[in-house]
Order: sequence, then structure tokens, then C-alpha cells
Amino acid sequence: MKALVLAGGSGTRLRPITHTSAKQLVPVANKPVLFYGLEAIAATGIREAGIVVGDTHAEIEAAVGDGLAFGLDVTYIRQPAPLGLAHAVLVSRDYLGDDDFVMYLGDNFIVGGVNDVVERFTRDRPAAHIMLTRVTDPRRFGVAELDPAGRVVGLEEKPPVPKSDLALVGVYLFTPAVHEAVAELKPSWRGELEITDAVQWLITEGRRVESTVVTGYWKDTGDVTDMLEVNRLVLESLDRRVDGVTDPASQLIGRVVVEEGAVVERSRIVGPVIIGAGARVRDSYIGPFTSIAAGCAVTGSEIEYSIVLPRASISGVSRIEASLIGHDVEVTPAPVTPRAHRLVLGDHSKVQISS
Ligand code: DAU
Repeated sequence: MKALVLAGGSGTRLRPITHTSAKQLVPVANKPVLFYGLEAIAATGIREAGIVVGDTHAEIEAAVGDGLAFGLDVTYIRQPAPLGLAHAVLVSRDYLGDDDFVMYLGDNFIVGGVNDVVERFTRDRPAAHIMLTRVTDPRRFGVAELDPAGRVVGLEEKPPVPKSDLALVGVYLFTPAVHEAVAELKPSWRGELEITDAVQWLITEGRRVESTVVTGYWKDTGDVTDMLEVNRLVLESLDRRVDGVTDPASQLIGRVVVEEGAVVERSRIVGPVIIGAGARVRDSYIGPFTSIAAGCAVTGSEIEYSIVLPRASISGVSRIEASLIGHDVEVTPAPVTPRAHRLVLGDHSKVQISS
């Protein structure tokens, strides 16, 4: 069995964090979301992974390399344009050969990995196995309709009027039957070859399509609230580890990770918190559920429940909360506007001025 990891896309979408970089590299607890997917794949015992890349291929290749660090043998497959998830399968046809494969969308995060579902698929070998999760706004996803017995009877991509709240999670398991389906597809209303339509084709043809409903799912949608939440979730399971340097005047409380080369001085860190390699924290307070990425500098500031991306600097700012701070950002206090009270006070007045 192989894995096909989708890390393409145009990289031109304007969202707060990914307008300059690949969305699959958005960090969760200081680790690119894509890496969690690769680790989940490796944990199933799969060794061969094809990664579909587009415009942002250089960035993805620099981050993942040959895959050895994940225990994977990675082959990069260039998709000339982001023409859809099924198109990504089409361009990977030679790589996949006649193997079964798990297709994993590189911007998806699944708590608990995919071992169980891969095991079940390998045992039962339906034409396809999809994963579903309940979401509040199904219109942003592929949506599945199940019959009372829980069998998938229909799928629709981003329907304006969804038939259920069960969204397709970005992990699909296929036998080579999917290649027949993909060959039959026409571009959808959004001009893409939809994997949702390929799975629907298999259903219409009477092939067996199974599903598992999961909880603990997140997808990079550029939504800051969601991102802070998934960051919190991952930090919850952090183990304390201090590889960097902390001075005696600092206090580290609870599950705090200080990576190699990071320096903490005269600061109070209340975990769960991760401080990335080479970051410097001085005279500051870092509160729970905060990820400070590699190379950041936090000086004379307070921050909690936030994500700070590589090389950002925050200086002299009191209490930042629920914030997402991008790469190389500089946060400093606004200059104090001069204020003056002009008073004409009679003899013996008593005045209280809050300044
Ligand atoms: O995340 C789950 C959703 O993923 C499903 O519910 C939908 O049914 C499915 O169509 C897909 O929806 P999106 O439209 O949100 O997919 P997105 O464009 O975000 O692409 C998903 C990943 O695949 C992302 O890492 C980029 C990559 N990709 C995407 C396209 C369109 C490629 O590698 N090549 C492509 O052509």
C-alpha cells in the first residue's frame, strides 16, 4: 500500500498566514500540519509516499526532504496546475501503479491518526473508504448522505443546501478502481476534477464504498479561532522538555518545552507552552496554550493562548491574547501620545486625576 499526500495548490490565496507560503506548512504547536499527516502515514506501516506539489514545491521539498526523517521514502509528483483532487490522482497514475493507496490532504489534521481505518480497509478492501466528521458549516466541504444503516448513498461537493452535517475529511482509501472513476470525470462547476465525484461514480456503479465517522478533525481554512483551538489541543498532550537555556530567575510551570538553542531569562512560563529553537524570551510572561516558533524574540511582554510564527519579535507589549502572529512580524508599543490636563482650580480645591 502507498500513500498519496496532496500538498499542491496555487499558494496565491489571500489568507492571513498562507499568502506567502504553502498552507500545508502552517504550524500547529510549532510543527507544520503536513508533518502530522506524514507521521500518521508512517505509523500505519506504509513506507512509500508520493507527495503532489504545485507552485509551492520548493518550500514543501525543503521542509520534507527525502522523507527519511519520517521513515518514508518520498517521491515528489508535480501537478502543473491545481485542477482538483481527482486530477492529482490522475497525474500520479504511474507512481501509484496498481497499488491500493491512502490519499491524505496535506492541510488536514486528524486527531488519533489513521491506523484503525487503514487496518479496516486492508481487511475489507471496499473500492473506497471515506472518513466523515460532523461540522457546523457543511457547505464548505464535501458532504455525505448516509442511509439508516450507515451506508453512503450520495456525495456532493460544497452543496449550497447540504443533505447532512457529515463532511468528508481529507483522508480517502482506494483500490485501483478509483482510476476508472477518475478517467470518467468532467470538471465540476468550480472547474476542478473532484474526488467527491469519483467516489460518487463508484457508488453509482454499485461498487462498495465504506465510511468511518471520526471526531477530532481540523482543516486549514485560514480561520484563526479554529487554528488556536487545534494548537491548544495538540499542546494539551505536550511532555515537559527543556533543551534550551533558562536562568534561575525564570519560572517554568507545568508542561513547558524549551527547544535547543532557546534562551529564557527573567520570565514566567505557564504551560502548556512550546518555545522553538533559538527563540529568546526575556522579562516576559508566556501563558497557557502558546506556541512561540523558532527564532522569535519576546521581550518585556505578556502573551497567552496564541501562536507566534518563526522569527517574529514582540517587544514591550502587555497582554496579547488569542492572537496569530505571522512570520517575521514586529510588534512594538504605539508611541505614547502626549496628554496634558489644563486646569484652572480655585483655592483649596481637591482634584483626583487618573492618568
Ligand atoms: O479538507 C476536506 C475537504 O477537502 C473535503 O471535504 C472536500 O470534499 C474536498 O474537495 C477538499 O476540499 P477543498 O476544496 O477545501 O480542498 P483544497 O482546495 O483545500 O485542497 C485540499 C488539499 O489538496 C490542499 O492541501 C491542497 C491540495 N491540492 C488541492 C487541489 C485543488 C492539490 O494538491 N492539488 C489540487 O489540484
